[in-house]
Amino acid sequence: MAEHNLQHIDLNDYPHINKGLDGIVAFSTTKSFINGQTGELIYSGYHIDTLADNATFEEVCFLLWNDRLPKNSELEELHKKLQSNRELPEPVLNYIKTTDKNAEPMAVVRSAVSMLADFVDSNSSDLDNAITMTAQIPTIIAAFDRARNEKEIVTPLKDGSTAFNFLYMLNGEEPGQAAERTMDLCLVLHAEHGMNASTFTCRSICSTESDMFSAVTGAIGALKGPLHGGANTAVMNTLLKLKEQGEHADPVVFTKDKLDRKEKIMGFGHRVYKTFDPRAYHLRKMSKDLAEETGHQYLYEWSEAMVKTMKDEKNIDPNVDFFSATVYYSIGIQPDLYTCIFAMSRISGWTAHFFEQKANNRLIRPRALYTGEKNLPWVPAEER
Ligand code: CMC
Repeated sequence: MAEHNLQHIDLNDYPHINKGLDGIVAFSTTKSFINGQTGELIYSGYHIDTLADNATFEEVCFLLWNDRLPKNSELEELHKKLQSNRELPEPVLNYIKTTDKNAEPMAVVRSAVSMLADFVDSNSSDLDNAITMTAQIPTIIAAFDRARNEKEIVTPLKDGSTAFNFLYMLNGEEPGQAAERTMDLCLVLHAEHGMNASTFTCRSICSTESDMFSAVTGAIGALKGPLHGGANTAVMNTLLKLKEQGEHADPVVFTKDKLDRKEKIMGFGHRVYKTFDPRAYHLRKMSKDLAEETGHQYLYEWSEAMVKTMKDEKNIDPNVDFFSATVYYSIGIQPDLYTCIFAMSRISGWTAHFFEQKANNRLIRPRALYTGEKNLPWVPAEER
């Protein structure tokens, strides 16, 4: 236990504080399984490698919501529902057009998702609401990026995949097959990951019998932080800082200097994985291939040099956020949108956990160890 003043603590009641809730099992779930020692990740029965090689993001949404893969007709139906729900309510679009151009994109996504709650039918089911958010978060992100860059907002397509439509709305032109597949695979890899901070937030809000929009709004707030989803933007900012050093840029020295200053290197380390994050293998391969294709080879080489330095110096491996940064950069996405793309995918996992929590709810209400004084005498303000 940390250096607390223990005189007021009844240690019989509170023998142990679990700061950060490391290793605490508070839920059961069928949504994902992680073995942090071997680097294994399963979504509702399917290994992440199997899904990365075969599944589309829409199939993963169905899988997480239903714990089984969709039949053709069910997948078709889900596609149709997502496609027909992509347009934003006018007041939400107006908010996006008129908010400060310098606002943080994740803050805009959080506020816009919160607003969506006002425009859904009061009879809509949780599944309807999950589909609405999954369909509209990409529209929010693309609309804000275009509005802040003084570009005309692109109306979402009424067909095509989530990945295709997102890139189309962002760039104003249809993406090629390779770009669509890259985006789709990134969405598959980020969809679900157990009891991370944002999912825990989502389940906590659900446990009070609040609504799904509130739970997802809270989850977006949790994802935004640099120790969680915000790390992918922070990784790219780190690499761009290194780039500023021009011909003197040395990723090994840069990394060691940061470690000497006791700074964290973003995109490395994980609470659960004590080995290479299985998602990072797929992103690493994409990062390598795309870097070659788009002339960003130096970024890939620097990334690999940082991976080796972190292994040698700290025995710490990269997490999902490390290589995803260079993947997004190579397909021309602005660094401050990377965490929003994480949210655009993780909405599937958050909402799946919402269903699971609601189906077997118990109010989440842990305890805190009080370390303050007790029963102090009242001192009038003028005498303090
Ligand atoms: N750079 C340098 N040192 C690190 C890093 C890092 N990225 N990660 C962990 N360490 C060190 C840490 O300083 C500590 O060293 P010491 O024992 O000497 O004090 C030791 O490793 C244990 O670290 P910790 O912070 O207690 O471990 P944790 O389980 O609380 O941290 C983490 C997990 C993700 C918060 C942390 O690794 C970190 O801050 N990483 C950088 C941010 C990041 O990439 N976040 C994304 C997480 S994964 C995907 C997601 O959720 O979005």
